[in-house]
This record gives sequence, C-alpha cells and structure tokens, in this order.
Amino acid sequence: MHHIQPICDDLFWVGASDRRLSLFENMYPLGRGVTYNSYVLLDDKTVLFDTADSSVSGQFFENLDYVLDGRPLDYVIVHHMEPDHAATLEELKCTYPEVKIVTSAKALNLIHQFFDFDTTDEVQIVKEGDVLETGHHTFKFIMAPMVHWPEVMVSYDTATGILFSADAFGTFGAFSGSIFADEVNFEQEWLPDARRYYANIVGKYGTQVQMLLKKASALDIRMICPLHGPIWRENIAWFVDKYAKWSSYTPEEKSVLIAVGSVYGHTTAAAELLASKLAERGVTNVRLYDTSKTDLSELVGEAFRASHLVLASATYNNGIFTSMETFLTDLAAHALQNRTVAIIENGSWAPVSGKLMREIVDSMKKMTVLEPVVTIRSALKEAQLEQLDQLADAIRASMG
Ligand code: FEO
Repeated sequence: MHHIQPICDDLFWVGASDRRLSLFENMYPLGRGVTYNSYVLLDDKTVLFDTADSSVSGQFFENLDYVLDGRPLDYVIVHHMEPDHAATLEELKCTYPEVKIVTSAKALNLIHQFFDFDTTDEVQIVKEGDVLETGHHTFKFIMAPMVHWPEVMVSYDTATGILFSADAFGTFGAFSGSIFADEVNFEQEWLPDARRYYANIVGKYGTQVQMLLKKASALDIRMICPLHGPIWRENIAWFVDKYAKWSSYTPEEKSVLIAVGSVYGHTTAAAELLASKLAERGVTNVRLYDTSKTDLSELVGEAFRASHLVLASATYNNGIFTSMETFLTDLAAHALQNRTVAIIENGSWAPVSGKLMREIVDSMKKMTVLEPVVTIRSALKEAQLEQLDQLADAIRASMG
C-alpha cells in the first residue's frame, strides 16, 4: 500500500521508515529505526529528490508511482550518492527511462562506480550556483563537500525557501506518524539520536559543515527537508544552532561525561566516588558510562554534548583497557576538540593507562588536561581521597 505524506501543495514525502535494520552503515545501532526520505515535486515538470535504500525499494516505488499518478518523471536530483539514498537509482532509470539525472560532477563519477547503466544522455551536471527551473519553482544548487561525502550538494527552492539538505540536519529514528519536527517532542525524543547521528556520521567534518552553514545563512530558509528524520518548518534556528555548536566543537552543555573502563569494578568505584564529590560541589550535570556496556556511537555523541570528559581506565595488556582505548581513538578520529579532561588510571602492578590516554588526548586539538592525574593501584585507598577531592575541585573550578 502506498504511504505518502503531503508537505505542501505540490510537494510530497515518498520515503519510508526502516525498523528492521539493526546497524546503520553496519556499525551504528538503530534502536529507534531510521527513515530514508525522498520527495516528489509536481510542478510543470516532475522532480524526485533522491531515491531510497534498497531495503525499502518496494514501498518507495509504490509511493512514487502513486504520487506521479501517470505523469512522467522528468528529473531526479541526486544530492548524495551513498547507497542509503542512491541504491535504487538504477531501478529508477529502468522504471522511468526518460528521467534526467541532475547531479554534481563528482556524483556522476560515483554513479559510474556503483552502476553500469548508460549516462551518455539524460544527465545534467550542475555546479555551485547553477539553477534548475521546473515551472513555478527554481532550484539553486549549493555544493556541500564532505557533508558527508565529497560529491554532496544541497538544493534551495527560491520560490518556497525549502532547503533540501541531504544528510545535513538528518537524524536516526523512524517516524511514528508525523514527519514534521514541530509535531513531535524533538528535544526529548529525537535530539540524542540527532546528536549521535551528527557526531558519528559527519562529526569529523566540522570545517565543511561550517562552510555549508555559512552558505545557508545567506538564504531565507523556511523549511529544511533532510534525507533522514523529521522535516523542519518551525524553530529552524534552534536546530541550526545545534549544528553550529557541534561543527565548531563547542560543548553543547556544561556537563561532565565520566567514561569508565573497568575490569573488576574498582575503577568504576573510584569514578562513582568522584561523581558524588562533584555533586557535593554542585556539579550535577554528570553522566557516567561504562565503556564496555555503552555503544561506542552513544559515547561519541555524548562527548560532542559535554564540556568535560573524565577518563577512568584500568591498565590492560600493558595498555589502555580495550573499550576505553576504542572510545578514545574514535573521538580522535572524529576530530573532537576543545574539551577539558580529567584522568584516573588503575594498574595493579604497572599502571600506564593514564600516560597512554594522555598521549591520545594530547594528539587532539584544544584539549586541557586537569591535575592531578589520579593513580589507583588495584583499589582506591583512604590516602587517595585527598587527590580525588583535588580533582573534583579542579573540575568544579574549570566549569566556571
Ligand atoms: Fe544518509 Fe551519507 O547517507
């Protein structure tokens, strides 16, 4: 059965939710599912804005056929060639052979890499500032390299102020009825997944996201249609501000993320005591996570939120406890910067995790490491409480 949603008079959502996929990109858990958004405009010309993942191809093509209602498909604008949006492009060409592909030069290369169909005819390459007129609408193309692949572009409808933003402003999460951000409790229900999506998918490319935000600031944007998650038509500035913070690696909140890698719980016990000492000092925006129990993508998302990171790790195989090492190297890979860090190390006979964690932190930009680094040998002792107090004081003082 077709399942479409009207957006405005001549624009329709023809995408689909996927609640069956466990891991997005075979990596990121999808506890709340994901949507593959695709849109159709019925102007003098008909326009499809991206296709959809092969997992929802049946629903997608049924939706497209229903909305077109016998009209030919004139254009498909390919903003992004990642298969979650472009896997069904070849099937689209087979079903609608007359359709003209409008895309960037880099995307055309990727089309040739992913597919074998002939693109000699019926392809229109666009570059920064080019426009496509479809009747009552004119679409301006804006290149957005590395948000999140090099070929990405976004398009802006000068008639309506709608920005088709590709992966930008997207989020994990499937729809439960409404497709509009103003009709759901986005901050409570969606924001953690939006942050997790941003940090893990495009977090590394803050500079490029900033460039896109700068270009977007020159536009009168009245609606954002992303490729994943809800459509924005109200309170757009609030979500743009989140992107401004995340992409500039500005902490979203004065908050302490305590990440613990612990073998038998002694390191956890020290971290929990530190958390209580912070609470005694009025620092209550604190979240403690076990790196072995918490999905890596959630930890990375949380690190993009919080201003302070406490890294508490056992020494393991003469190195950092494995799940903590994975977390830290992933933070460095995602270019996280501008954080204040406290370190607790544990080692029963040769504690080295503190030194090694510090080396990774020092490889990241604008990181401040607080003193003292607390060293535990097996279990925290009474004599070390003063050090833990000093660390709590240092964290409190650095929060301003
Ligand atoms: Fe949703 Fe980068 O693809």
